[in-house]
Amino acid sequence: MCGIVAAVCGSRDVRADVLAGLKTLEYRGYDSAGMAVLHDGAIEIRRKMGKIANLEKELQENQLPSSTQAIAHTRWATHGPPADRNAHPHCDDRKDLVIVHNGIIENYLELRQELTDCGHAFSTDTDTEILANLIAMYMRQGQDLHGAVRAALEAASGSYGLVAMAAAEPGVLVVARMDSPLVIGVGEFGRFAASDMPALLHLTREFLILENGETAVLKSDSHQLFDKSGAPIERDLYHCNWSPEEAERGGYPHFMLKEIYEQPAVLARTAFDRCNDQKGDIEFELEFGLSQDDLRSIKRLRFMAMGTSQNSALIGQQMLAELARIPGETLNASEFLYSPELEEDNALTVVVSQSGETADTLRAMREVQRRGGKVLGICNVQGSTLAREADHLVLTHCGPEIGVASTKAFFGQVTALYLLAIHIGRANSTLDAAAGRKLIEDLRHLRVNLDASFRPEVSEQIAAAAKYLATVKSCLFLGRSLQHPVALEGALKLKEISYIHAEGYPAGEMKHGPIALIDENFPVVALATTGRTYQKMLSNIQEVRARSGKVVVIAASGDSVARDASDFMIEVPEVPELLAPLITIIPLQLLSYQVALLLERDIDQPRNLAKSVTVE
Ligand code: G6P
Repeated sequence: MCGIVAAVCGSRDVRADVLAGLKTLEYRGYDSAGMAVLHDGAIEIRRKMGKIANLEKELQENQLPSSTQAIAHTRWATHGPPADRNAHPHCDDRKDLVIVHNGIIENYLELRQELTDCGHAFSTDTDTEILANLIAMYMRQGQDLHGAVRAALEAASGSYGLVAMAAAEPGVLVVARMDSPLVIGVGEFGRFAASDMPALLHLTREFLILENGETAVLKSDSHQLFDKSGAPIERDLYHCNWSPEEAERGGYPHFMLKEIYEQPAVLARTAFDRCNDQKGDIEFELEFGLSQDDLRSIKRLRFMAMGTSQNSALIGQQMLAELARIPGETLNASEFLYSPELEEDNALTVVVSQSGETADTLRAMREVQRRGGKVLGICNVQGSTLAREADHLVLTHCGPEIGVASTKAFFGQVTALYLLAIHIGRANSTLDAAAGRKLIEDLRHLRVNLDASFRPEVSEQIAAAAKYLATVKSCLFLGRSLQHPVALEGALKLKEISYIHAEGYPAGEMKHGPIALIDENFPVVALATTGRTYQKMLSNIQEVRARSGKVVVIAASGDSVARDASDFMIEVPEVPELLAPLITIIPLQLLSYQVALLLERDIDQPRNLAKSVTVE
C-alpha cells in the first residue's frame, strides 16, 4: 500500500536518494506519488497521479530546489480518489509544514469540522491534510514540531506511519508510528525514514524500528526516540542482512519471474541449515523458543493468515496433522475477530505472513494473545511487527519479495511448515528418528527435482497452455488433499496478475455447483500428481471433458494416462506426496506469469493490489 521515504542530511542534496528509495517501493501498489523539500525556509511540493515515472517527468519539467531534507510518498487511495491534489505530501493551509502519512485517521470528519470552525481551509479530500492542519495549529500555539505532532496524534484516532517537517525547524524530521510500519535508517551522512527497509538499503543497513505509539526526532547527525508518554528511550540498532542487490531485478524482466526462479535457492536457505540429518531432527534458531515440553503439550493448532499465506497455512495444517498428529484449522485472519472466545489451553496459533505487516493478520495475532493464547509466527521479514510481537518465531529466509504476486514466500512458508511438522512430530514421538531422517532426505532430494521444473520442454508445455488460457474469461483450478490449497493458490495467481476470473476448488466439490459452468469456453486446471487422490482426480478430469471442457493437467512426467486425458499437459517430477505442493506450484506460477505476459498486464504491480495490506 502507501510507501514513505524521507531523509535529512548535513550537506548532501537528498532529492535523488529519496526518489531512488521511492522507486524501490513501487511494488507495494500505489496510484500517485509526490515529494517535498525544504529550501531556504520554504516548503516546495511536487505531486503526480499515476506511476513514479509521472512524478519524475514533473520533477524534470518543474524541478524541486536542491535540499538536504526531503519527504516522499506513494499513495494508495483511501480518502478521495487518485488525483494530483490528493497525492502526498500534504501541507497545512499556510504551508508552514508538510507531512506524508500511511494509514487512516478514523475521526477525520470530526477533526475537519473543528478545524473548519477555527478557520482552516482544505484543498484535498484526504484525512492527511487534516492532520497537517492540526499539527500546524499546535505549532502556532507554541509547540515545537515534535510536540505538535504528538499533540495532534493524541487528538487523532486511527493508524499512521508519519513523517513531518516544518519550515520553522530546518534540519529536523519528526516521525511517528501506530499500526503502520515505519523504520529509521541510521547512515554515515544522515538519518532516513521509510515504511519498508528495502527502500533505504541503498543508503544504510542499520535500522531502528519504531514501535506503536512511539515518535522520533531525526537530525542529520542524531536521532532521539520517544515512547508513548513522550519520555526519551534508547534502542539498539538492527542490522539488516538483505543486500541492495537482492531487492533488484538482476536481469529478469520482472521481479515475479526472478522470484519464481529463486525458489530452489529458497529451499536451501529456509531448510538445510536447520536439518540435522543424522538425528532426523529440525533445529530451529533461538527465536523459536518452544521447548520439547511445550511442543508435547500442544493438542490443537490454529493457522491464521491472509492471501497466499493462507493457502500455505492450509498446506501446513495438513502436514502437521499427518506428521505430528495434531488437529488444526485454518482461518482467514480477518474473520477471527468475530469468532467466539474458546479455551486457548494447549492450543498454539500459527500466524503466517510474508511481510509480517498485514493489518488483519496482526489484529488477529493480538486478539489471540489478548485471549491468553500463544502465537508462533512464520514470517519472512526479520524486524517486522509479526516477527517482534509473536511469542515464538520461525523466519523463512526467502530474501526480499518484491513482486506483488507472492511466489517464493509461499514456497518458503510451505517449506518452513514442513520443517515444523517434522520438529513437532519428533518432539511428541509421532515420528521416530528414522522417519525424521527419511523426511529430511526427501527434502534434500526435492532440491534436485526442482531444477526439472525449469527445463525447456516444460517451459514449452507451459507456454502452450498459457496461450490457450490467455483467450478465456474464466477458469477453475481443482485439486484434492494437499493439492487443494495449491489449486487455490494457482487460481489466486491467475486472477491477481492476468485479471482472468479464476477459482480454486476441492475437486470433489466440483459436482456441487462449479460443474454447471463447464463448457467449451470454461477450462479447468487439474492437479493430478501421483498419490492417494490420483484416481479420483482422473475421474474428475473425465467429467470435465465429457462436458466439452478443456483441461490443463499437471501430472508426473511420463504419466501417459494423464497425458491422454488432457488437452494440455504440464509435467512435474514425481516426488513424495507431502512435498508435491512445492513441485506443482511452480508450473502454476509460471503459467499465470505467461498468461499475464501475453495479455500485457503490469505483472509486478497488478491493478488495485498492494504487496502489503496495512489497513483492515
Ligand atoms: C497482499 C499481497 C499477497 C499476500 C497477502 C498477505 O494481498 O498482495 O501477495 O499474500 O497480502 O500478505 P502477507 O505479507 O501477510 O503474507
